[in-house]
Amino acid sequence: MRVVFLGAPGVGKGTQADRIAAQCQVGKISTGDLLREAVRDQTVLGLEAKSYMDQGNLVPDAVVIGLVREKLADPSCANGFVLDGFPRTVPQAEALGTVLSSKGIALDLVVNFQVPREDIVRRLSGRRSCPKCQATFHIDFAPPKVDGVCDRCGEPLVQRSDDRRDAIEMRLKVYGEQTAPLVRYYDERQLLHPMDASGAVDVVFQHLSQELAPYRAT
Ligand code: AP5
Repeated sequence: MRVVFLGAPGVGKGTQADRIAAQCQVGKISTGDLLREAVRDQTVLGLEAKSYMDQGNLVPDAVVIGLVREKLADPSCANGFVLDGFPRTVPQAEALGTVLSSKGIALDLVVNFQVPREDIVRRLSGRRSCPKCQATFHIDFAPPKVDGVCDRCGEPLVQRSDDRRDAIEMRLKVYGEQTAPLVRYYDERQLLHPMDASGAVDVVFQHLSQELAPYRAT
């Protein structure tokens, strides 16, 4: 199964990508997670990426394309992959197509997650993450058992720097300008599958799981 999860910030791509990758035993490649890891490790790439990310802007194409190319060669992706947050621009989509065809493979499907804007803002502003194990929570929709503390490792939870109101607005603007054109791009290639992702996490997962079932063995 080789699938892209496309959609605005906060539609639930990462939440569902974790579940689908585990269920289907395929690799998950999240460019947001990879970039945050580089920021935490203070690598040269991370130091470059941080200022773009904090402001809600996209990191330059060449940086993320390099990261994804490397990850696709990982053994965890041998049975397939879920791409979460990549591609995000037309040049990234073109680069992905080139990398896959050089390996003699192609995408099965691009799932376009759709959630009303007011729900997106609520999801993002209420998100809390664990800086140690990267688990994600939501103050209303997926609260930790103990307020402000990670269920998995007991670390105090934090709010992502790009989940501030001004950065959220910027991310949504950037999505509209640079990523939304991919809806048409993949529709023209008959790969686009719209998904109403406004329901609860378990409901969305059930629908997604059904839609992806035909691709599981490939
Ligand atoms: P990234 O980490 O990819 O952020 P994003 O796309 O903005 O996505 P989010 O992680 O904010 O949202 P999501 O859709 O994954 O939702 P989630 O499941 O977390 O990228 C961050 C930055 O890195 C970018 O701004 C950019 O700077 C850079 N970057 C990354 N990729 C790049 C690329 N390809 N090119 C250039 N730059 C790149 O859920 C959000 C919240 O909602 C959580 O709290 C969750 O618990 C809750 N939630 C999830 N599902 C539901 C539900 N069904 N009901 C209620 N609550 C829910």
